[in-house]
Amino acid sequence: MIAGMKKLFSRKRTAKSQSGDKREQEQPKLEKRAASEEPSYITEPEPLSAEALTSDEVSAMEESATAIAIEEKPQKTKAKPRKELLPPYDGPVLEVRNVHRSFQTGSRIIHVLKGIDMEVKPQQLVMLKGRSGSGKTTLLNMLGGLDQPSSGEILFSGQPLQDWGDQRRTALRRREIGFIFQAYALMPLLSAWENVELSLRMADVPRSEWKDRVGHCLDLVGLSKRVKHRPFEMSGGEQQRVAIAKAIAHRPRLLLADEPTAELDSKMGAQVMAVFRNIIEVEQVTICMTTHDPTILEVADHVYEMADGRFLT
Ligand SMILES: Nc1ncnc2c1ncn2[C@@H]1O[C@H](COP(=O)(O)OP(=O)(O)OP(=O)(O)O)[C@@H](O)[C@H]1O
Ligand SMILES: [Mg+2]
Repeated sequence: MIAGMKKLFSRKRTAKSQSGDKREQEQPKLEKRAASEEPSYITEPEPLSAEALTSDEVSAMEESATAIAIEEKPQKTKAKPRKELLPPYDGPVLEVRNVHRSFQTGSRIIHVLKGIDMEVKPQQLVMLKGRSGSGKTTLLNMLGGLDQPSSGEILFSGQPLQDWGDQRRTALRRREIGFIFQAYALMPLLSAWENVELSLRMADVPRSEWKDRVGHCLDLVGLSKRVKHRPFEMSGGEQQRVAIAKAIAHRPRLLLADEPTAELDSKMGAQVMAVFRNIIEVEQVTICMTTHDPTILEVADHVYEMADGRFLT
C-alpha cells in the first residue's frame, strides 16, 4: 500500500537542492520574477508567531495579511542568516518520559494523561490512536510545546522543553515544528500560493527564498496546478495538502497533525498519507499524528494506542 501511495506523489526534487550561496546570487532575478508573476502582498519578513492558532487569531491575521496586500509596496530586504536553536543531536526527535497532565475545572481535578512514555525517531511516521477523550490532542499539544506537562519530561532533539523559557519555546515552535489540523486552518481569502508564502513570512525566512520554496512545497504535495486557487475553490483533500505545504514550508524538523484525515473520504485520506510518506523522504521531516481511522494505520512506522490517558502495551 505504501509503495502504491508513494507512486502517486513521487517527486525527484530534493529539499536541499539549492545551496544558500546560489540562492544569494540569484536573489535579484528571483525578486524580479516574484514581483511580476505572483501575487505579492507581503513586503518584508517580520517575526510573527507560527504556533497553532485559534480561529480568532486566524481571522485577525487574515485581516492584517489582506490589509498588507492592499497597502504595501514590495521592498527589498536583506537575507538574515538563520540561527540554530538546537545543538546537533543524533537521538530521537521526541522522548517523552512519564508525562502526566491534569486540569482543574472548578473544584475538580481531571487527570487526563497518566504516565506517558514514548519515542519518535527521525523520519518516522508515528500515529496516536484511541477513542474520543482518551487524551490524544492533549498529548499532541504537549509534544508541540503548546502546553506543559503537570509532571514528567519531554525532550525535543535531546533538549528538555520544560526547562526552556516561553520565548525560547515559542521560537522552537516557529522554527522547528509545523502544525496540521483536522479543519485545514487556511486563510480563506488567500490563494494556495499566498497561504504557503504567509507561513514563510511568519517564520522569518528571507524573502529571496520564498518563490522557490513555495513552488517546491506546492509541487511536493501535488498542487502545482492549483497555486492560484483559494480554499473554497479546492476539495477538502486539496485544502489539506495546501495546509501540509504550509506546515513544511519553513523546513520544520517535526510535523504534528491532529486527525488530518478525519474530514476526508478514504481516497483523499490516502492521498494525504501518500504526501506524508513523500515529505518524510524528500524533506527529512518527522511526523506524529493522531487518528481514529483504522484504514491508515498500516502507513505508520509505529502506532501508540491510547486508552484513558495511558498507552496500551
Ligand atoms: N483544558 C482542559 N480542561 C479540562 N479538561 C480538558 C482540557 N483539555 C482536555 N480535557 C479533557 O481531557 C480529555 C482528553 O481530551 P483530548 O482532547 O485530549 O481527547 P482526544 O483523544 O483528542 O479526543 P478526540 O478523539 O475526541 O479528539 C477529555 O475528557 C477532555 O474533556
Ligand atoms: Mg483530539
